[in-house]
Amino acid sequence: MTEQDFIPKAYTELISNGKTSWKSPSNIALVKYWGKRKGQIPANPSISFTLDNCKTTTSLTFSKLTEPNSNFSFDIFLEGNKKDHFKPKIATFFERIYKYLPFLSEYHFTIETSNSFPHSSGIASSASGMSALALCLIEVEKQLNPEMGDEFFARKASFLSRLGSGSASRSIEGPLVQWGEHASIQGSSDLVGIKYPYQVHEVFRTYCDSILLVDKGQKQVSSTVGHDLMHNHPFAEQRFEQAHENLSKLKVIFAEGDLREFIKIVESEALTLHAMMMTSHPYFILMKPNTLEIINRIWAFREQSKTHVCFTLDAGANVHVLYPESEKTEIDQFIKNELVAYCENGQYICDQIGLGAKKA
Ligand code: PMV
Repeated sequence: MTEQDFIPKAYTELISNGKTSWKSPSNIALVKYWGKRKGQIPANPSISFTLDNCKTTTSLTFSKLTEPNSNFSFDIFLEGNKKDHFKPKIATFFERIYKYLPFLSEYHFTIETSNSFPHSSGIASSASGMSALALCLIEVEKQLNPEMGDEFFARKASFLSRLGSGSASRSIEGPLVQWGEHASIQGSSDLVGIKYPYQVHEVFRTYCDSILLVDKGQKQVSSTVGHDLMHNHPFAEQRFEQAHENLSKLKVIFAEGDLREFIKIVESEALTLHAMMMTSHPYFILMKPNTLEIINRIWAFREQSKTHVCFTLDAGANVHVLYPESEKTEIDQFIKNELVAYCENGQYICDQIGLGAKKA
């Protein structure tokens, strides 16, 4: 597979206007993507659980322009409100994908988007947001070229999503999606996320993720800046190698369902991600005191309850509490009794592993 495969030949249909709508989920990485090369190529492979409840719904209305406009003509609305300050980000995305979707200059687009999770919850909306938009766009292309098959549709949706936000490439399908070349994962690619192709023990098919909203404020350092700081990072090479090794170890763990080993990899990945932030130049810390309180309480509760609760972190202060569905009652109670006190306004979101994006 190369980038050339995603450049379309001439379209067969002429369409003057229409509307497409998609609902796409967020995802939570188990092996983290942190560091990239030019063209949104990941510095190391990653794998994630696709989520189910944390979603973006996007509708795209399109109407043919009288003259093509290579500066792109579009408006964007979030929860019904016009958001002109999002336009530069979308314009950059359109520039990046124009080569692969040449119809972009020929239509005016109205993008209407809304999230299922609270506004500014600190939950990364880029994965669900960019993938929902990419899906709407590829659906326009499918209308212009109805020959397109389902497999190519999903692959190109992931390819386009990646160009919007790397982790968005892992939101199209589920329940487990792998992105980035890895020697022992057949079909793995730096260009697209693929459905994890090997055996997965049933315990992982219904895994739960309760997202504790520790800090809903704006991040001090964006993930774009964070990725960049992996260039010339003193530990970059060891880190990238470690991600390959952790993915190899997970392959065995996914097949056997060994939760103790799963926890070791997942928690270490989360802490390593933040260790990279703390050891870059300039260095920074995205965890908050309550993030550490929660982690310590999870460790103490796991020891005492003999359950398999564990945590992972994104590039922020919020904590994703992961556990098998069979322990849900006990862990829910633990969250209510001990962890909610550390969440901003007591807010958290109960989610679980999902199967990917759907037409809205
Ligand atoms: O997709 P981006 O560029 O926002 O990067 C996200 C990186 C992490 O969420 C920290 C890790 C990951 O693999 O999702």
